[in-house]
Amino acid sequence: MIKQETIDQVIATAPVEEVIGEYVHLKKRGVNFIGLCPFHDEKTPSFNVSPVKNIYKCFGCGKGGDVIRFMMEHEKYSYPEAIRFLAQKYNIPVLEDGQQYSEEEKDERESLYIVMNFAKQYYHNLLLESDEGKSIGLSYFYERGFKDSTVQAYELGWSPSGRSTFSDHALKSSYSKEVLLKAGLSFETKDGSLMDRFRERVMFPIHSISGRAIGFGGRTLKTKSKEAKYINTPETDIYHKSRILYGISQARKAIREQDGCLLVEGYTDVLSLFQKGILNVVASSGTSLTEEQVRLIKRYTENVTLLFDGDAAGTKAALRGIDIVLQGGLNVKTVILPEGEDPDSFARAHKQEEIEKFVSEKAEDFVLFKAKLLLGEKTNDPLHKAQVTKDIVTSIAQIPDQLKRSIFVKEAGRLLEIDEQVLYAELNKTIAQKYRKGWQKPADEEAAPPPEPDEKEAAGTAASVSIDLSERTIISLVLKFGTEVLKDDVKVADYVFQEIGTTEWSNTNYQEMVEEYLQMQEKNEAVTLNQFLHHKNQELQQLSVDLLGQKYTLSPRWKEIAGKDMEAQLQFYYPQVMGCMRHLKMKKLLNLIIENQEEIKKAEKEGDEEELTELLEVQKHLNDLKKEIGKELGMVVVR
Ligand code: CTP
Ligand code: MN
Repeated sequence: MIKQETIDQVIATAPVEEVIGEYVHLKKRGVNFIGLCPFHDEKTPSFNVSPVKNIYKCFGCGKGGDVIRFMMEHEKYSYPEAIRFLAQKYNIPVLEDGQQYSEEEKDERESLYIVMNFAKQYYHNLLLESDEGKSIGLSYFYERGFKDSTVQAYELGWSPSGRSTFSDHALKSSYSKEVLLKAGLSFETKDGSLMDRFRERVMFPIHSISGRAIGFGGRTLKTKSKEAKYINTPETDIYHKSRILYGISQARKAIREQDGCLLVEGYTDVLSLFQKGILNVVASSGTSLTEEQVRLIKRYTENVTLLFDGDAAGTKAALRGIDIVLQGGLNVKTVILPEGEDPDSFARAHKQEEIEKFVSEKAEDFVLFKAKLLLGEKTNDPLHKAQVTKDIVTSIAQIPDQLKRSIFVKEAGRLLEIDEQVLYAELNKTIAQKYRKGWQKPADEEAAPPPEPDEKEAAGTAASVSIDLSERTIISLVLKFGTEVLKDDVKVADYVFQEIGTTEWSNTNYQEMVEEYLQMQEKNEAVTLNQFLHHKNQELQQLSVDLLGQKYTLSPRWKEIAGKDMEAQLQFYYPQVMGCMRHLKMKKLLNLIIENQEEIKKAEKEGDEEELTELLEVQKHLNDLKKEIGKELGMVVVR
């Protein structure tokens, strides 16, 4: 965890106009800067950068936040990555706490990186320089059609014959036995001597995002041997196969630029596509796709295309991959290659344009893919169709975004010829089950929040009066004027909380803000909107930016304008606060009245006289209140 101190310093140091100015052409407009929004298409600039508030905000698409958020949005950095990037740019030391590596652990990890780099160079040199490497390894790569440029780009290598050729060389070069074992490069035999893990294999280094070797895959060239075709580095302190994708270091730039990622299964698939100029390609290599790998892709794009063999294993892998990608909140398409082809053979046999055309034409969204595949011939068998429907709905249920879900429900309805309402019923059931079982946690902290419970008492919400807007206005007033005195020494925030409580906010974001506000108050910290402008919870941050953008926003200099005169100062917020509170009270009241009326109807139907008398009593009281507040509001209240 990066310390708050560092985050604060980054925000305070990095000028928003300077950071953004590197990506967006900004023009000065008054105290602010203005430019074309990088997050949506526009011809007239509505993207605002405010050096005073140290934030940006687009009035076209609504995106906004501080420098950290900008780097996350624009460069697809994670939160810590964005902080580190800016910290480095402005020479701010990054302080960490929590699960930080100790010096010793850092040294250990570093020594693993160093020995892996040593091995990578060694294998690579052997491939290019040694007799064995050239005549067996390199000629194999050439035979498969790999060019020198590919060999270089992926730093391919050759591990030598002999029991411990590499280990001996490493020991001689003063690498310790311990580090060779920890790195998974050598084994210890019974007599305590070392043996090489990789012997007589062509070597595929697995690179970290930044391009350091963290593991290897070694392929044997012996066709009749009983040994596994591939041997891979075991899990080590720096290599976790479920967290990395083969080729990510070489592909990430292209993935970001093309805003899409091709996912294949094997090392050679990546190499062949790369060689044909398809650069945005990575492989899950040897594991079925994991949540962490999806999150890795998400840093660069939200669009994933699975490119798999046409055989049963390939289809199965695609089916498994789909749900994982969807769960991560990404868009997924599948391309199944012609029978008997894998991405490697297909890439070798076709030109770049042909491959690109094939991929774009054959890419199917998952609903279509599943429907075609699973429905197969048996389109008329109702039981089978029910099964397929369930299967597709389960996939749709993985999508965190409600709007996206509804798009796929529509499509599924059309393809399966099933009424959308039926699909929704099934979908809601699946989602409810999912949450009960808790088998899906949000993919990560930045992932979309859990979907709105779809089965929200629809009847209740339809009839009730929205109080969200009033709450919104009030929370913004609290944030802006909370510490000002309203009347009789009572501050604005305290008055609001007295009147509407601190736990009854209907919108969870406002509720969260209130809670944090109270916590800060307890700690005697000054509470200002600024704290929320740079909040790590993206929703709260966005919300506070929106609140600032509202039309009744006052200049932060309102106090200067009002001068020392308390009465004049009061005029800036008193009428707003009182007015809003009355509006909110009125709305809440109207809701109570609606509820009560329902109860009355029920009691009438059931003939419960006693209950009815009581309810009518309540109704009278509510109506009196309504009149009272209505008068204060200057409203003529009908009914
Ligand atoms: N794999 C592995 N261990 C194995 C077999 C496969 O780790 N015993 C992983 C490798 O990352 C491999 C991928 O699964 O690249 C796909 O396997 P496969 O299609 O068998 O290998 P290819 O890379 O296609 O190798 P080749 O074309 O040379 O047969
Ligand atoms: Mn292959």
